[in-house]
Amino acid sequence: MTWFRRKPLADLTAVAEEKKLTRALSAFDVTLLGLGVIIGTGIFVLTGIGAATYAGPGLMLSFVLAAITCAFVCLAYAELVSILPVSGSAYTYTYASLGEFFGWWVGWGLVLEYSVGASAVAGGWSAYLVGILHAGGIDLPKSLTAVPHDGGIVNLPAMLIVLFATFLLVLGIRESAKVNRVLVLIKIATIFLFIFLAGPHVDPINWEPFLPFGWQGVAAGTGILFFAYLGVDALATAAEETKNPKVDMPVGIMASLIICTILYIAVSAVMTGVVPYPQLDTAAPATYVLEYIGSRAGSAIVGTGALCGLSTVLLVMIYAQTRAFYAMSRDGLIPKGLCKIHKKYHTPHIITMIVGVVVSLIAGFTPIHIVAEMCSAGTLFAFMCASLGVMVLRRVYPDVKRDFRCPAVYIVAPLAILFCGFVFSQLSAHTIELFISWSILGALIYVFYSRKHSVLAKAHREELQLGNVEIEESMK
Ligand code: ALA
Repeated sequence: MTWFRRKPLADLTAVAEEKKLTRALSAFDVTLLGLGVIIGTGIFVLTGIGAATYAGPGLMLSFVLAAITCAFVCLAYAELVSILPVSGSAYTYTYASLGEFFGWWVGWGLVLEYSVGASAVAGGWSAYLVGILHAGGIDLPKSLTAVPHDGGIVNLPAMLIVLFATFLLVLGIRESAKVNRVLVLIKIATIFLFIFLAGPHVDPINWEPFLPFGWQGVAAGTGILFFAYLGVDALATAAEETKNPKVDMPVGIMASLIICTILYIAVSAVMTGVVPYPQLDTAAPATYVLEYIGSRAGSAIVGTGALCGLSTVLLVMIYAQTRAFYAMSRDGLIPKGLCKIHKKYHTPHIITMIVGVVVSLIAGFTPIHIVAEMCSAGTLFAFMCASLGVMVLRRVYPDVKRDFRCPAVYIVAPLAILFCGFVFSQLSAHTIELFISWSILGALIYVFYSRKHSVLAKAHREELQLGNVEIEESMK
C-alpha cells in the first residue's frame, strides 16, 4: 500500500553521516538549551488565562500533569533522535516509522504546533508591549491592540512583530548559542524577580477554593498549558551533539523539565496567591500582578524581560516551521518551488515569507486561547505518532545503532501515548472539531497532490517501469 511506504532509514542516516557534528555538549548544556527553548509564552502569557478560565489555583497541578506527559514523550523521542539525527522533526521520524501518510499528517499537524503556536506567542508579546507602555504612561488604542473577539479590530503589534521576525529569518539571522545563554539568564532572572517582588504579597485566602473548576478544570488546563512545554521535542535533537548521549540526554531533558515545572508552579502559585484568579484573564498576567501590588517599575522590568523571552521563542517557532516545510518539499510532498533557496541569503525565502504572512494574519485576528489550544492539539498528535514510531522502529530495525535507548520502551512509549491521548481528549470540543477539519483538509491535499508527487512514489514508479521493460525484453 503506497500510503504506508516508509522512507528508508539508510537515506536518512546517510544525510546524518554527512553532517557529523562535534560531540561537545554536557548534560548541563542540554539543560540550558532546554530552558532556552521551553520557557516562554506558557509561563508569561497562558498562566493568566489558564487560572482565570480553566483551572483556578489548581493550575499548579495542570503543570505537573503536563510535565509527566512530556517526560514520557521525551524519553521516546530521544531514542528516535539517536537513530535519525536529521532535521529532527516528528515529521521525519513518522515518515520513517509509520509511513508516508502518517508522516504527512504529522507534518501537517506540525503547522499547528509551529505556525499557530507562533501566533499565540505574538499575541502574548503584544500584550506585554501594551503593558510596558501603559506602565510608562502611554496607552495604545484597544481597537489596534486587541483581536475582534476581545473587543478590538486588529492586534497590530502582534502582526508587526511576526513580520519583523520573518524579515530577520529571510536574511538568515538567528540567535547563536551565546545569545541563547544570555537570553536564558534574562528569562530566569525575570521569573525570579517576579517571584521576589510579588511573593511577599501572597495571601493564601486567594487559593481557596483551590479547584474552583474541579479536577475537570485541572485536566482542561493541562490541554492549554501543554504549550508551556513545547520545545522539549526540539531539545531531543541535541542528541547527536552530546558527549555521552546515554547519560547526558535523559539527565538534561529531565533536569530542564523539572526546573521548568518548579518555576511554572512557583509563578502560578504567586499569581493566584496575589490576585483573585478570576481577575487574571489577561495575556500579560505577570505585569498585571505587579501593577496590582503597585510596583510599576517592577512591572516594566519584568515586562521587558518577558518581551525578550517571547521574541526568541517566536523566532525559533517560525524558523522550525520553515524547516519542517523544507523537509517536506525535499520529499516532494509540497511543491519544491516554495522552498527555493535565496541566492544571496541562502534561506528558503519564499516559504518563510508565506509562513510569516499567514502567522501574522492569525495573530492579528484570532484569540490567544484558541490558537494555544490548536497548537497543543497538533503537538499532542505528533507526539503520539512519534511514540508509536519508536516501538515500530524497534521491531522493523532491531539492530540499527541507537546511541540512546528509551528505558522500558514498551512501557514508557504506551504511557506517552496514553497521557497525550488523555490530554488531547481534554481540549475543548471546538478545538477537536477544528483539528478534525484541519486533518481532513490535509488528507485531501495528500490524496490529490502529495501522494503523486512524492519522491519515493516517483522512485517506485521508475522501478516498476524498469521491471516492466525487463519483463518485455525477456519475453522477446
Ligand atoms: N514552550 C514554549 C512557550 O511556552 C513554546 O512559549
